[in-house]
Amino acid sequence: MKRVITYGTFDLLHYGHINLLRRAKSLGDYLIVVLSSDEFNWNEKQKKCYFSYEKRKQLLEAIRYVDLVIPENSWEQKVSDIKEYHVDTFVMGDDWVGKFDFIEDETDASVVYLPRTPEISTSQIKKDLEAKKKNQGE
Ligand code: CTP
Repeated sequence: MKRVITYGTFDLLHYGHINLLRRAKSLGDYLIVVLSSDEFNWNEKQKKCYFSYEKRKQLLEAIRYVDLVIPENSWEQKVSDIKEYHVDTFVMGDDWVGKFDFIEDETDASVVYLPRTPEISTSQIKKDLEAKKKNQGE
């Protein structure tokens, strides 16, 4: 069985996320999503999620492409996750191109960067909702 792993926050789940997960799953048979914990998001990325870790996990587990969701608590855990779960392919969106090439030196997994779906992101959704709210207030 070929195992694939990917990492992210997946807040306000949108079609860009679904596209990524569908293509990631098609590279193997079993997809593991390592989901950033609320603490990790706040401490390391200064991001506050709209949905809690538990809610984001529930949403991901309801997606047919996703087989397992585990927490991301540090930047360093990637190599140990890949070894522990016997992962064949590490996948990220191409906003991360080059950043994880070292994984091929440190593990047996290959690294694949998939093109992002254009014009959609969690931050864009938040910005649009904020602008809408402002306009309504005027
Ligand atoms: N992703 C994608 N296409 C998009 C948005 C995200 O392929 N339009 C991918 C990212 O490259 C990443 C995964 O989905 O591999 C999770 O991304 P995440 O950062 O959680 O989502 P974003 O919408 O990019 O969130 P933000 O705007 O907060 O960065």
